[in-house]
Amino acid sequence: MVELRKVTKDYPMGGGVYRALRGVDLAIAEGEYVAITGPSGSGKSTLLHLIGALHKPTSGQVLLEGIDLGRLSPEELARLRNAKIGFVFQQFHLLPRLTALENVELPMAYAGLRPKLRRERAQAALARVGLLEFAHHRPNQLSGGQCQRVAIARALVNEPALILADEPTGNLDTKTGDEIVELFSSLHREGRTLVVVTHEPEIAARAPRVVKLRDGRIEEDTHGDL
Ligand SMILES: Nc1ncnc2c1ncn2[C@@H]1O[C@H](COP(=O)(O)OP(=O)(O)OP(=O)(O)O)[C@@H](O)[C@H]1O
Ligand SMILES: [Mg+2]
Repeated sequence: MVELRKVTKDYPMGGGVYRALRGVDLAIAEGEYVAITGPSGSGKSTLLHLIGALHKPTSGQVLLEGIDLGRLSPEELARLRNAKIGFVFQQFHLLPRLTALENVELPMAYAGLRPKLRRERAQAALARVGLLEFAHHRPNQLSGGQCQRVAIARALVNEPALILADEPTGNLDTKTGDEIVELFSSLHREGRTLVVVTHEPEIAARAPRVVKLRDGRIEEDTHGDL
């Protein structure tokens, strides 16, 4: 599903460059649940952004379902992201003026779906994360965990093949974080492909595969017993 070949990423820094990724080879099969861990600054978010076609590598290739992302135009990349990838971030990135339901409808509006279908699907996605009764609340009327569940519903609503999450529980207390982690596990059981960046060992422990980064390289890639 995802393949990285000799991927590097440099960021300009001062007069020179900072080598955030220093040659990463990684293959993720359809249906896998992978946790990405490692110290702060080790390149986790950078890696996730490359997998999600949000940024381009400095060198090397990123392939999604066999398609080399480097060959696509910005418009093609945007279309591919919308169709195939669901993103979940630490800061939920919900639009404050829109209700939960309207936030979840947004990706489908971009995809050009009819309003009635949008509404039905958004309601189903909110029901999936247990928030149907909060459909008409705005983000400031929801708890942090509820906001994150809305963000997950939004990530799911176009039925993406791949779900990417960057510290999805970073802003939540432990109990609320556990609910989110449970939700990821159930998405995995449904056969979705998940890549979740996390600092937290308890979350990484729930993933069958853990990829540990250090200084822009893969230090360890462990498959659990599942
Ligand atoms: N836009 C940028 N411009 C310059 N340097 C950057 C940029 N983004 C990231 N970096 C640098 O690249 C390195 C890797 O950053 P990245 O955000 O991938 O780390 P991370 O593993 O996600 O860390 P954290 O756990 O703190 O989120 C860091 O040293 C960071 O300072
Ligand atoms: Mg990060």
